[in-house]
Amino acid sequence: MTSPVLEAIYRRRSIREFTDKEVTSEKLHEIVKAAIWAPSGLNNQPWRFAIIKDPRIKEQLAEQTHYGHIVENANALVAVYLSKEEMYDTVKDTQSAGACIQNILLAAEALDLGAVWLGQILKNKVEVNKILGLADSFDLMAIVALGYPLHRKQKSRRKDISEFLLKNIQ
Ligand SMILES: Cc1cc2nc3c(=O)[nH]c(=O)nc-3n(C[C@H](O)[C@H](O)[C@H](O)COP(=O)(O)O)c2cc1C
Repeated sequence: MTSPVLEAIYRRRSIREFTDKEVTSEKLHEIVKAAIWAPSGLNNQPWRFAIIKDPRIKEQLAEQTHYGHIVENANALVAVYLSKEEMYDTVKDTQSAGACIQNILLAAEALDLGAVWLGQILKNKVEVNKILGLADSFDLMAIVALGYPLHRKQKSRRKDISEFLLKNIQ
């Protein structure tokens, strides 16, 4: 079975090494547009974004994570937030943020970009908000590092589907 969506799902890999090529504003706009078309409970659209390209800010953010080299080398970063003022249910809003982040990864794939979901930086989310000048009412969910892939040799594995199926009642 093939479809552009399924192909993007299977082809996407986390990209952690990038070329210097610029990610245009148009592409970043498309990525954020794809992000906001994720589903959300009650269609409350609780996500908010910060786009970061400034090397001085990237350098400061890089200090907040073990994966600083990725943050510094990415051409652009998209920090994904939940706006606490828009939230109605912690679990469901967090799930919505996950769907939104996955849309970003798939949009990047569709635009020939590479991306990686960075979660380890959440341990310093208070500091990240300070660097970006954002209020505590914005709760960091992830930073997605974006750029043109240096190569596409990444490999990833999944366990066999049978290991995940608890029941298959037909
Ligand atoms: C919640 C979450 C947090 C993650 N945090 C990091 C991270 O901090 N650094 C990193 O290099 N990759 C991070 N990743 C990427 C995973 O390592 C990656 O998705 C996984 O190894 C599977 O590889 P694939 O994306 O190429 O299929 C994260 C992924 C998720 C979903």
